[in-house]
Amino acid sequence: MAGSGTAHLRDHDENVVLSVRNLVVEYPGPAGQRVYAVSDVSFDAVRGETIGLVGESGCGKSSVAKAIMQLPAPTSGSVEFEGVNVVGLKGKALRRQRRKMQMIFQDPISSLNPLRKVKDIIAEGLRIHDGRSKEEVAARTQEMIERVGLDPHTAPDRRPHEFSGGQCQRISIARAMVLDPEVIVCDEPVSALDVSVQAQIMNLLHDMKERYQITMVFIAHDLAVVKNLSDRIVVMYLGKICEIGTSDGLFSAPAHPYTRALAQSIPEPDPEAPILKAALTGDLPSPLNPPSGCRFRTRCPMAQDRCAAEEPAIREVRPGRFVACHFPIDEPALV
Ligand SMILES: Nc1ncnc2c1ncn2[C@@H]1O[C@H](COP(=O)(O)OP(=O)(O)O)[C@@H](O)[C@H]1O
Ligand code: SF4
Ligand SMILES: [Mg+2]
Repeated sequence: MAGSGTAHLRDHDENVVLSVRNLVVEYPGPAGQRVYAVSDVSFDAVRGETIGLVGESGCGKSSVAKAIMQLPAPTSGSVEFEGVNVVGLKGKALRRQRRKMQMIFQDPISSLNPLRKVKDIIAEGLRIHDGRSKEEVAARTQEMIERVGLDPHTAPDRRPHEFSGGQCQRISIARAMVLDPEVIVCDEPVSALDVSVQAQIMNLLHDMKERYQITMVFIAHDLAVVKNLSDRIVVMYLGKICEIGTSDGLFSAPAHPYTRALAQSIPEPDPEAPILKAALTGDLPSPLNPPSGCRFRTRCPMAQDRCAAEEPAIREVRPGRFVACHFPIDEPALV
């Protein structure tokens, strides 16, 4: 992909809770170079919406997640929660906004303090952010322990190492939810779990989303995982956005060559179905020196001269479908 632009933002929708605009994340690289991890990424989410963020490992998903949470702040760009730009906020003002945004990490065990009891891990945010009494904190903590499906009698006084990966992810979810956040950023929350447990955690996240009307950014490296949970999907490649659209439409009729390659790599549930050849060849280019023009051009079967010379801007190619490609697939006229 890859393109820049903000044509897909819903600036005039008063239900927009999270608005990420022109986000840039760069790291110091070897020998004075720069790592261009995220290069002008914009997307938004309305209340209760789940945005799936997908792309290959190394495309910048976690960098986007951390920049949203200000852990650390991005190199440039803005992140607005309910109209307040949190980039550049410090101290009390940042803490007040942070309460509204929580993150669930990929590795549940290492994201929990091994020395603390489960009830203290979950209650920690309440103690920092809240003026509640001890009894209120205890009651709220106990409620969340039950709600995420942990044993309310034995779990509170145990420590993380006494739990499985799936149970630790339940603890992480309780820790995030106890603060009643507006937005949750889930960075590959099931990738480190056994396949048998993944569905349980996905179901729990789905329940939480429905029950609390949470706005969610759900990150995964394959489309199959985000497909059911997401309302809209943002496809990233090498630090930029390729395509944005509804979950169903994106899979059944991808407009960007990279989305099509990802869609074709989803394992077919029907064992009789013909096996698709690996749709994507070659490695992700280095973010130290991204290709000119469209960053996907070195792996794109449809690349032409223009793709090296000119970066494609994100534009609406079908109602509600936004694509950064000079030659999108099967482009019907806009009605
Ligand atoms: N702290 C860092 N310092 C230097 N490079 C980094 C750092 N964090 C991530 N990167 C690089 O930035 C790119 C994007 O990384 P990341 O956001 O973790 O991608 P993803 O989550 O999609 O796998 C990768 O090339 C990665 O190596
Ligand atoms: S056709 Fe060109 S612009 Fe479109 S994805 Fe391929 S290389 Fe990029
Ligand atoms: Mg990551």
